[in-house]
This record gives sequence, structure tokens and C-alpha cells, in this order.
Amino acid sequence: MNPSLAAQAISEARGILQDQPTHTVGPLMTIVYRIETPRLVVRCWSPKDAPLVKAAIDASLEHLRPWMPWIAHEPQSIDEKVELLKKFRALFDRGEDFVYGIFDKGETEVLGGTGLHARVGPQAEEIGYWIAAKHAGKGYAQEAASALTQVSLRAHKMVRVEIHCSPRNHASANVPRKLGYLHEATLRARLVEVDGTYGERMIWTMLPSELDASAAGRVPIRREDAAGRMVLD
Ligand SMILES: CC(C)(COP(=O)(O)OP(=O)(O)OC[C@H]1O[C@@H](n2cnc3c(N)ncnc32)[C@H](O)[C@@H]1OP(=O)(O)O)[C@@H](O)C(=O)NCCC(=O)NCCS
Repeated sequence: MNPSLAAQAISEARGILQDQPTHTVGPLMTIVYRIETPRLVVRCWSPKDAPLVKAAIDASLEHLRPWMPWIAHEPQSIDEKVELLKKFRALFDRGEDFVYGIFDKGETEVLGGTGLHARVGPQAEEIGYWIAAKHAGKGYAQEAASALTQVSLRAHKMVRVEIHCSPRNHASANVPRKLGYLHEATLRARLVEVDGTYGERMIWTMLPSELDASAAGRVPIRREDAAGRMVLD
């Protein structure tokens, strides 16, 4: 193997092990900043969303605590949220990591958060999500994850998109199951739980050839680039 390929393989392996990005979206790929679905706006965070995201998380602490390790740092101040959203925004602009807010159509309320993360190997992305307690059970996670499945496979041209969750998290596992993902495996001692122990990690995947016929592929969406222009396949 030539030295640059070897270095790339090592850095990818390191990324997988440390949950760090393994690749960035290339110059020919369009970064999707804003997506409209039938009921939602899923878009890149702006620092001025800090009060709205704080309100959504502060009202959902007990709902999120069993599953989201970052809840240990909550509640955060508005200033801390501004710094976090600036960090998300910088990674997004650089094409390194795509953390999106989930809003109502008028963008007056944060309904949850989602993201596309390049930490599952070359040419693949993982989708993560959370929904505010008062909006759970309305199908919003399925709608947002459908949108990001399409972005990953159609706009970013990934060869595989994944959703990971604990098998104990039935509400989360239901999302990829309903969207037509394949349950490939449940890996042992592979997920850091909120109490620091290592639990099982379910791996759900979808390939480009499976998208059109899946529930995820059939949700009508409108995608926009940074300038607000429509992104076509
Ligand atoms: C896991 C979690 C994101 C699921 O969010 P959600 O929005 O409630 O999930 P869904 O989109 O699957 O919606 C759930 C239910 O809403 C109902 N629903 C109501 N209206 C609907 C609509 N128009 N379309 C689809 N479903 C609808 C459905 O009954 C659906 O359940 P079903 O498909 O099994 O019948 C949420 O519970 C959560 O934030 N949990 C804590 C954080 C977490 O665990 N994150 C994931 C870590 S891996």
C-alpha cells in the first residue's frame, strides 16, 4: 500500500474507533443547509437559535437523560448554547459534520435535533436524532430521518447510511425499522451508555439501491444549499 493510502487507512480506522470524522464532503458535493418536509424544517443551526434550543432541551431533560450522554452537561446557559451552535455551524460550513435543528414550519419552535455524522467509515454516514418530550409520538423522528437519509444517499452520494441505537431504546429502533433500514447486527460492548458502562449497539443500514422503494425515500422533501437554491439529484 502506498504511504498516503496507508495514512488514510490509519486515520479512518482511528476515526471509527474514536467516533471522529473519517472524511469530509468533497468539493463536488453540495452541502444541504435547509430541508423542508411535509411538517418540518430541518436546517443548519444558527447561534441565534440558542434560546429556542435551550427551551426545548430544558423541558426534555428527563426524556433525554436515559439515552443522550450529552445531557450530563445540561442545563446550559444561553451563552454556552451560543458557543455550541457556533461550533456546530463551523463544522457544517467546513463539510465535516452536519448537525441540524428540527423546527416547526414557521421556525418558531425547536422540535428536536438530528445530524449526519461521517464517523462510520469511508463514504458512509450515521444519522442521529432526538425529539423534544412534548413532540414525541408524532412521527417527527421518522420524518427528519427520512430527509437526512435522502440527503446522505442522494446529495452526498454515500454508499451506505447507518442508524445506531441501543436495543433497549425501542422508540429509537422503531425509526429505522419503519423507514425500511436493514438490521445488520447487534454488536456487544460497543455503545457507551449514559452511566459509562458498555452496552449493545444495534446497526441499521440502508444502501442507495434500497432508497426509492423505502418509506424513507418516499417522503417528499425540498433541499436548499447555502444560498437557498434548490438542490436537485
Ligand atoms: C427516539 C425518539 C427520537 C423517537 O421520536 P418520535 O418522533 O417519537 O419517533 P417516530 O417518528 O417514530 O414517531 C413515533 C410515533 O408517532 C406516531 N405518529 C403520529 N403521527 C404520525 C405521522 N404523521 N407520521 C408518522 N408517525 C406518526 C406513530 O404512531 C409513531 O409510531 P409508530 O410508527 O410506531 O406507529 C424520541 O423518543 C427521543 O427523542 N428519545 C430520547 C432521545 C433518543 O433516544 N434518541 C435516539 C438515540 S439512539
